[in-house]
Amino acid sequence: MTVPKTEKKTDQPLFLRALAGEATPQVPFWLMRQAGRYLPEYRALRAEAGSFLDLCYNPPMAAEVTLQPIRRFDMDAAIVFSDILVVPQAMGQPLRFAEGEGPRLDPVQDKDALARLSPDNIDATLAPVYETLSRVRGELAADKALIGFAGAPWTVACYMVDGRGGAFPQARRLAVQEPEFFAQLIDRVTQATTHYLLRQIDAGADALQLFDSWAGLVPADLFHAYVTAPAKKIADAIQARHADFPLIGFPRGAGERLGDYVAATGLRAIGVDQNTDIARARQAVGPSVTLQGNLSPETLLAGGDALVRETTAILDAMRGQPFVFNLGHGVIKETPPEHVAQLARIIKEYRA
Ligand code: CP3
Repeated sequence: MTVPKTEKKTDQPLFLRALAGEATPQVPFWLMRQAGRYLPEYRALRAEAGSFLDLCYNPPMAAEVTLQPIRRFDMDAAIVFSDILVVPQAMGQPLRFAEGEGPRLDPVQDKDALARLSPDNIDATLAPVYETLSRVRGELAADKALIGFAGAPWTVACYMVDGRGGAFPQARRLAVQEPEFFAQLIDRVTQATTHYLLRQIDAGADALQLFDSWAGLVPADLFHAYVTAPAKKIADAIQARHADFPLIGFPRGAGERLGDYVAATGLRAIGVDQNTDIARARQAVGPSVTLQGNLSPETLLAGGDALVRETTAILDAMRGQPFVFNLGHGVIKETPPEHVAQLARIIKEYRA
């Protein structure tokens, strides 16, 4: 039976309609890091699991944590609970999360260390993430979408080389001084990431986000080689298997280069950080690309009048255009859950 196009379109989750380029009558929303330590129900399950990574690799628990914010705030999309650093771990690079200190990896800074990593059998480690996706998709209402994700190669390589978060001095230096080593590293991560994202689609992801959280730190003349070219390679491989699959690029800190990023990658949906004016981002990417963003996480933390004012300003600026409401970066762990509830109310009551 053939379903008329318009009918089929409105049956879809609001979030997927927006990603397909529709200016939806209501604005869909989700928040980066919507599952996490600001929620007491997350902290309880996290304590039960033991460590953060134990939680990531426990499908029933990870599925529960993924669904917690949806139950509380009725977001339009759930994002699978995991981390971008499970990919280097699956390639064989030891990873730990020291309590209160963030991630630590054994640094990869030369070709020998790189040769010890294998991008070919990552599923052995990542199978629980696929299982989490299947479980969540099974429990999620039909009008909600499920987002899979990965870190973009540049951002993942930053952590792999320096072994920890910060300003990534070693990664930035080696990108310039050891171009051959660095290009090989980026290639390996690109290969593993492509495979990982395709498997997430098989497991039930309705959309994918590629987090390039540190795109703003790449040496300027290497932006194309290490930010846009890998993103295009990944996007092309996904589109070759799944035509028009919704894929969001998030080149945080790209600033003036946002237009170049869209032109060079061909991506149709872009996450915007809070340091970019969203109306200017719209001018840079044109009318048909879906924008996602960009409330400051600090404004959500603060709540009150500023939250109402800034949320409304973003909604007004994106009125009548393809748009998904989000933060410009992840929820801060001290954020009162009531502020997230207030944000959800403002967005739901707004008529685009
Ligand atoms: O709700 C969601 O958004 C899904 C889960 C998710 C996590 N990390 C859970 C997490 C997602 C999408 C990520 C992505 C991620 N992880 C990024 C890209 C986005 C960004 O924030 O820039 C990065 C750079 C990482 C790496 C990472 N993971 C760091 C630097 C840290 C430590 C900082 C911190 O907040 O503790 C993590 C840990 C992490 N990832 C936590 C969560 C919920 C906190 C772990 C805990 O419970 O102690």
